Amino acid sequence: MSWINYIPAVPEGYQKYVPHLMVLGGGIVAYYVLSNLFSYLSILRQVKGLPVKHSFFPSYEQGLRARVPHIPFILPVKDYYSRPEWDRFEKPKSDLLAYTCMTQHRAIYWTANPYTAQHIFTKISLFEKACFIPRMKSAAKFGGNIIVAQDGEEHKRHKAVIRGCFGEEIFRNAWDEVENTVEMMLKEENLIDGGIMEDVGGSTIKVTYIVIGKVGFGYEVPWVTPRTERGEEMGFVEAYEIVDRSVLYQFMLPGWLLRILPTKKFRRMGYGQKKFLEYCYAMARSKRAELGALKEAGEKAKAPTDLLGAIVHAQVIAEEESRVKNGSEAPHVGLTEEEVIGNMFIFLLAGHETTGHTIAFTIAQLALNPEWQDECYKEIKAVCGDEKPSYRDVHRLPLCLAVGLEAMRLTDIVRQLFKVAKVDSMLPYNTWDDHGNVTRREHLVKAGSLVYIDTPACQLNPFHWEGANDFNPRRHLSGGDDARAGLNKSEVPFVAFSMGTRQCIGRRFAEVEIISFISSILARYTIHPVPAHKGETKEKMKARMLDSAVEDLTMTPGLFKVRFEKRK
Ligand code: HEM
Repeated sequence: MSWINYIPAVPEGYQKYVPHLMVLGGGIVAYYVLSNLFSYLSILRQVKGLPVKHSFFPSYEQGLRARVPHIPFILPVKDYYSRPEWDRFEKPKSDLLAYTCMTQHRAIYWTANPYTAQHIFTKISLFEKACFIPRMKSAAKFGGNIIVAQDGEEHKRHKAVIRGCFGEEIFRNAWDEVENTVEMMLKEENLIDGGIMEDVGGSTIKVTYIVIGKVGFGYEVPWVTPRTERGEEMGFVEAYEIVDRSVLYQFMLPGWLLRILPTKKFRRMGYGQKKFLEYCYAMARSKRAELGALKEAGEKAKAPTDLLGAIVHAQVIAEEESRVKNGSEAPHVGLTEEEVIGNMFIFLLAGHETTGHTIAFTIAQLALNPEWQDECYKEIKAVCGDEKPSYRDVHRLPLCLAVGLEAMRLTDIVRQLFKVAKVDSMLPYNTWDDHGNVTRREHLVKAGSLVYIDTPACQLNPFHWEGANDFNPRRHLSGGDDARAGLNKSEVPFVAFSMGTRQCIGRRFAEVEIISFISSILARYTIHPVPAHKGETKEKMKARMLDSAVEDLTMTPGLFKVRFEKRK
């Protein structure tokens, strides 16, 4: 008996409608197929003139494209990703590539030109952040926040409050906490008199995680978090660690589902999330109450030294200003309570993995390029003498920052930034011939197209960065030979922190952490690679230490060791 026999017969009175229904159904299918076909043909016309790759599914999602198998035309991940990152632009000899995707009704472009990237970042009338992308939606899981806010009024509202958080007190606190945590790391890893740091990436991310715990939430986080026993109340530090270690699951699955899933691991994630949010709300409310009490007593609140306190403080100030200006509080001034928590979660997410990984890559570069350790040491000695570096020196150690920026240029952390075209406009790009003769061109990008900035490829573009693959920190300083002459002054647009209105608002915070970490280590130790075997070449060591990094939520270092040797 065939399956068709199971379909009930159409009642007699309705049989006359069957042909009409079939025509209607066929019409809908034909309309769907034809409209998709026309849309696809129109996209093919839009990308004409550029090197184009075609696919069925989008294959550029970070974390996915480096992991899943390459299936030509269906999921051609290698078309969207190469290591070294510049290669996929080098081969077609164009720093603008186009992609068509059967399941996406818009043209997709990727640029590896830092000046085109600057154009896209800064021309806010032409491009805006593509907040509709799924990963952006997931990042709003714990509350609306600045990263997922739509360009314009919504972003301005978040930024007005968040900007107020990053004051001098926070930076000073960040410096001191890095210094304290470096001491903790040296002690816990038996490195005080020198020795092997077994997992550089694992240690540096722990440092920045502990720093955000203290500077973000005001909590002392230990090197190893003790686990609560069954029946004990889970504390903030453990809940914070659980959420931090399971961010991908936290993004993908609802909290209630995590709590009822049949494995202990998932239930712990769900419970950790619940407790983490409870603590965050309780802390935010108590800060607000504290500020309210001070105001009633006519006292001025001290500048907060933790980010949560700073957000609540900035929020209260925004409300106060609105009351003074309008006579009453504007209905949408500042952030809702949920948005305060959403932004705190973003600080946790954006604020430590990025910096921790950057410091790990900087250590690898310094171990492989010891001449730059000597240069930094000279700078530290000239500025601090025999004193240990402290926050008062932060503006006088530019080379200690430049080594971090250069490590980031060579191994970009955030990897891809996406914008959507608001209107039709011409996008500048370059092509070149076999002899390297460059032709400047423009391509018409239609409204609604997605434009991806391939930040690692922009930073390795040999037409803009001289000696693009060399580790040369001095390119980030304006003063040529004089390292103290200027900071963050590379002549080519540096896109690792993005640019324009959506550039990283935590950049200075990250920079202070990098300077504090690097100066505190190099003042006392030299750093050396640990060869895998006798006679291992520098190239092989470089591959093991740097090229082993994998793309995840951010670029994540592979497992490598270095040796710390105490300076005499
Ligand atoms: C080396 C370290 C860091 C790198 C490479 C980095 C990179 C970036 C990039 C590329 C963006 C733009 C993202 C986009 O447009 O989708 C961004 C935005 C942001 N970053 Fe960072 N970041 C770092 C450290 C930090 C730190 C330490 C914090 C906070 C403590 C932070 C907080 C933020 C926030 C809140 C935004 C959103 C800004 C906005 O949309 O206006 N970042 N970051």
